[in-house]
This record gives sequence, C-alpha cells and structure tokens, in this order.
Amino acid sequence: MTDIEIKKGLAGVTVDYTAVSKVNPETNSLLYRGYPVQELAATQPFEAVAYLLWHGELPDAAQLAEFEASERAQRSLDDNVKQAIDLLPLDAHPMDVVRSAVSVLGAAAADVSDNSPAADLTKAKLLFAKIPAMVAYDQRRRRGQDAIPPRADLDYSRNFLWMSFGEEPDEVVAQAFNVSMILYAEHSFNASTFTARVITSTKADLYSAVVGAIGALKGALHGGANEAVMHIFDEIGSASNVVPWLDDALANKKKIMGFGHRVYKKGDSRVPTMKTALDTLIEHYDAADLGSLYDVLESEFVSRKGIYPNLDYPSGPAYHLIGFDTLTFTPLFVAARVTGWTAHIMEQTASNALIRPLSAYNGPDERHIEGYEPTEAEQAVAERPAEAG
Ligand code: COA
Repeated sequence: MTDIEIKKGLAGVTVDYTAVSKVNPETNSLLYRGYPVQELAATQPFEAVAYLLWHGELPDAAQLAEFEASERAQRSLDDNVKQAIDLLPLDAHPMDVVRSAVSVLGAAAADVSDNSPAADLTKAKLLFAKIPAMVAYDQRRRRGQDAIPPRADLDYSRNFLWMSFGEEPDEVVAQAFNVSMILYAEHSFNASTFTARVITSTKADLYSAVVGAIGALKGALHGGANEAVMHIFDEIGSASNVVPWLDDALANKKKIMGFGHRVYKKGDSRVPTMKTALDTLIEHYDAADLGSLYDVLESEFVSRKGIYPNLDYPSGPAYHLIGFDTLTFTPLFVAARVTGWTAHIMEQTASNALIRPLSAYNGPDERHIEGYEPTEAEQAVAERPAEAG
C-alpha cells in the first residue's frame, strides 16, 4: 500500500468552479446566481428561477412571458413516451419510470447529438416543460386513472397539480408547491449534478447526462430521502411514539432520513422556508397531528445528536399533504432539479475537461496466467519509458 491520501466520497475536494450556485457552510446559506434561495422562493415563480439558473439573470416581464409561452406550448406527453411508460409494470419505481421516459424522449430527439449552447438550452427547456406530464401520468396510471392533458391557462405549478389530480389547486397549495420546486432546483456539486457533469465531460449528450443524474438522485442518501422521511412518519405513527421509536432506531444505529448533510453541519437554510410552507399546508388540511409528529421528532433528534433537518424533512410531509403518493416524491425533485442539472451541463460544456480521477490499487499483487508469453508488441509497450507517453 502507498501513502497516497484517499479522499473517500470526494469529501472536502474542490473539483471545479461554478457560477450557478454557492453553498456556504459557514452561514448554511445557498445562493442561486448570487440570490439567497429563500428570497427567490418568497418572491418568484419557479419559471423565473429556472430562467435565472440557465441565463444567469432573472427575466424581465417580456422575457418571462416569452419563456412561459414556450413552456406552456411544450407540456404535453408525447405519444411515444406515453407508450413507453405504458410498457412498464405498474409497480415499477416512479424514478425508474421518469428515468426511462427521459431516455425515450432523448433517443427520439432529432437534436440529440447537437451539444451546442443553443441546442442544449432548447433541450433543457423541453425537459423542464415535459417532465411534469411524465410524473403526473405515472402516478395517475398507478392509481388506475387516465392521463389529464395540460392546461395552457395555468402556470407551471398549478398545471403540474392539475395534471396530477384533475383539480385546480387552492392558492396555499400552489404556493407551497412553487416554493418546494424553487428550493429543490439547484445545489452545486451534489451527487446527481456531479454525475451529470461527469457524463457531460465525455461529450455525451444532455439527455444522457440527465438520465444518469436521475439514477444518482434515486438513492436514499440523496433525493430518495424525501420518500424515506414519509416511510419513517408512517412507521412512527404519532408524536407520542417518537421517543420509543427513536430509542430503538438509535440503538440499532439507523440513519434518520431527512437529517444531516454533507456540507451543512449546522442546519440547512432551505428548511425554514419549506417549514413555513408546510405549516400553511398543515393548517389548510387540518393536519395538526402530522405537525406535532414533525416537531417532536425534530426536537428529540436535534437535542440527542446535534444533527439538523435537511430540505427533505419538511418537503416529504408537504408532498404527502398535497396528495402525492410517497413514491412520487423523488420524481417531483427531478422535475425541480432538472433546471440545476441542465445549467451545470451547459457550464461544463462551456469549459470542459474530461472528469477522470485516479484510484489507489489495493487488489492482489501482479500475477500471470501459466504459460502465457507476451507478444513483442506487448513487451514494447511495457518497456516504453513513462515520459514518452
Ligand atoms: N441519522 C443518524 N446519524 C446520522 C445522520 C442521520 N440522518 N446523519 C449523520 N449521522 C451521523 C453518522 O452516523 C456519523 O456518525 P459517526 O461519526 O458516529 O459514524 C456522523 O453523523 C457523520 O455522518 P456521515 O454519514 O459520515 O456524514 P456524511 O457527510 O457522509 O453524510 C448524509 C451526509 C446526508 C449522507 C447523512 O447525514 C445521511 O445519511 N442523512 C440521512 C439521509 C438524508 O436525509 N439525505 C438527504 C441529504 S440532502
């Protein structure tokens, strides 16, 4: 073994610059293109934040109107994508469904191999417009319901909820959903974004990078945590059961989903904003029991471990109250994060270097197949001085 220092999980390693967002662990803050995310969530529609992530500036009224019009025009589910979804079993995980649907969309796209900035921006906007229909339709078919066509008179969030449930959402619900989409949109070099950048660095196309990112987001240590939070809530049942449940979970060294973060060690700046949105939903749906379970688990866990909630902790119960199946939570995260992924894909392409780290080998010592004689050409390569190549 060598004395090479291994940075397991790339923890603490800075691999590149980004102008898309800034995560500041000192102040637990998150800026999108310089704007604190809580200010964006309080004042902007998700469409404007998507535009900001791609273009670097918030849109003016005319730019926003133009973007909204093109988004509304591209929302419907393509027949080939719908057919592909229909081929998948009803118990397929919705993350596998949305991953497959994006893959089908990319395979059929005429511009798939055009990695120019203009083509990539067009593809990013297309995915932004189309992923909600994929997610909404998959939940409906699992419930035995037909697809609901999009409505061009509704904004992104209201239309997403319309396609999911066939009802126009109340203002409180549409607002809370819009806030969640903004908070989930971007988070620097997290695992799925880094996956997208690795794939992009090989000069593969944007659709391939997004498909890979969806795969990375599925895991419980990343996006899958919002789904896992709801399973925990179901398991605990009520606030009065938190203490015995937590005693048992900690004795068995279980990770409590929705708490902890690789970068933020003293709390996540997105949580108060999402918690406020969750509180409006708790009041709207008259769900005080869920609210107390949330509060008791948070205070017990923080006081025992000093580990704070991350965004998945309030967003899981919020999506539950809105009426989404628990399995649909992470696909909602996909719909939001596709904005950040695609902004990073374009940034990687604009200043590309193939991402290819090194590893320290710790397998068996060199050994040989008995009787094998290297050819002259193989011998020549082995003996070529390292500085020659
Ligand atoms: N529940 C219980 N213990 C936790 C914990 C949690 N949610 N998060 C961290 N810890 C503990 C670890 O067990 C470890 O303890 P140890 O030093 O005694 O072994 C210590 O805190 C450090 O955790 P570690 O997993 O090494 O930190 P990390 O930076 O690699 O991991 C996460 C960050 C997010 C993967 C981790 O906090 C986690 O698994 N959280 C739950 C999943 C989740 O909510 N993910 C969404 C992230 S946005």
